[in-house]
Amino acid sequence: MNVLLLGSGGREFTFAWKFKQSPLLTNLYIAPGNGGTDQFGENLAINPEDFLEVKTAILRLKINLVVVGPEAPLVGGLKDQIKADQELQGVLVLGPDKFAAALEGSKDFAKQFMVKYGIPTSAYKTFTAETLEQGYQFLDALSAPYVLKADGLAGGKGVLIIQDLTEAKQELKSMLTESKFGKASQTVVIEEFLEGVELSIFTLTDGKNYVVLPEAKDYKRIHDGDKGLNTGGMGAVSPVPFAQGEFLEKVNEKIIKPTMAGIAAEGYDYSGFVFFGLINKGGEPFVIEYNVRMGDPETEVVLPRIDEDLLKLCADAASGKLESRLLNLLSQTALTVMLVSGGYPEAFEKGKEISGLEKIKDGLLIHAGTKQENKQVRTSGGRVITCTAFGNSIEGAQKKAYQMASLVSFEKMFYRKDIGNDLL
Ligand code: AMP
Ligand code: GLY
Repeated sequence: MNVLLLGSGGREFTFAWKFKQSPLLTNLYIAPGNGGTDQFGENLAINPEDFLEVKTAILRLKINLVVVGPEAPLVGGLKDQIKADQELQGVLVLGPDKFAAALEGSKDFAKQFMVKYGIPTSAYKTFTAETLEQGYQFLDALSAPYVLKADGLAGGKGVLIIQDLTEAKQELKSMLTESKFGKASQTVVIEEFLEGVELSIFTLTDGKNYVVLPEAKDYKRIHDGDKGLNTGGMGAVSPVPFAQGEFLEKVNEKIIKPTMAGIAAEGYDYSGFVFFGLINKGGEPFVIEYNVRMGDPETEVVLPRIDEDLLKLCADAASGKLESRLLNLLSQTALTVMLVSGGYPEAFEKGKEISGLEKIKDGLLIHAGTKQENKQVRTSGGRVITCTAFGNSIEGAQKKAYQMASLVSFEKMFYRKDIGNDLL
């Protein structure tokens, strides 16, 4: 099978690494890929959001399966365009169509879905510029902190959590009437704040049948102790000790089953991953968001724990032939530590020489924001390299991951020192 994998991060590196192990793989192309993905296939310098570039590559390289890593091409309608094109009939696409991708692309759409299917989520209301005054009144009725969410995709920046009521009102006005997040904030969801610990759950589906993947915990803030700005994710651990027993049963019965049944009942054209962003509030799970793709860096600890042919699972999901069953998983703990460019998630410099990579003999060294220039690996993004290690305990995996991290260096490199500590 010839596979085109779209994306360029640590997530896509990990998919490529796993696909490479499949006997079903003939050729793998990663578009655009990064400074490490060419170990597993050929990087293609094309833009995953440009349909014509993707189409040309599919035809030239006789692609059988397109696997979409990030959300933007899906929310933009890439699957719809491939399906509608006469020359691309028979090409499989793993991902939902544009309509179903609104589960991630529109917070309001996702909330309506959750309400319709009785899935636990925080109370909310949706506002536009015309209903700004009602928005102020809704804020008056809530208590701090206030959660304001741009309805559309805003590159992970569209969620504001604000302590002060006056400031929350100002921000609401700025989102709705001054395009604070451009088109994404023409509609704003205001919701009740949920206090608790976050958890990421994933399924892979063909639209009807599904399998549950290993869960993970992501560390979103830039500094130790969950302080500072939100990032794409600074590390992850799988499995998560509190995601067991009665709590996991609740996640399954109250969240996974009704969501997957809802997707089937709506008749969505949905193959691919469902990412449930959950909060454990006093032992009760709530959905804070759906994503229509895998998480990053969660993928970097989830995929290595799947003891199966991932390419076969993906092809089965994309062709509507997935079997609902339990997956074979490795019981080991996987823990990843993200090495980032100094300054991230705000302004940072690129193009720094990365050294020490060849010293790492153990674990899975994952490229995220890297590129190669004359055989030299350099930084090209905020999240640069992630070190995934395995162990029989969180402590064991943590020790190895930090040992890996200590061997790598680039100017202004930064990483969190406490990934996994809260779970010990
Ligand atoms: P989202 O993009 O919806 O995942 O929101 C980004 C982050 O904001 C989440 O990962 C949570 O840490 C936080 N968050 C979102 N919604 C809520 C909520 N209702 N209560 C508490 N925290 C939230
Ligand atoms: N790590 C969170 C995300 O991928 O959205």
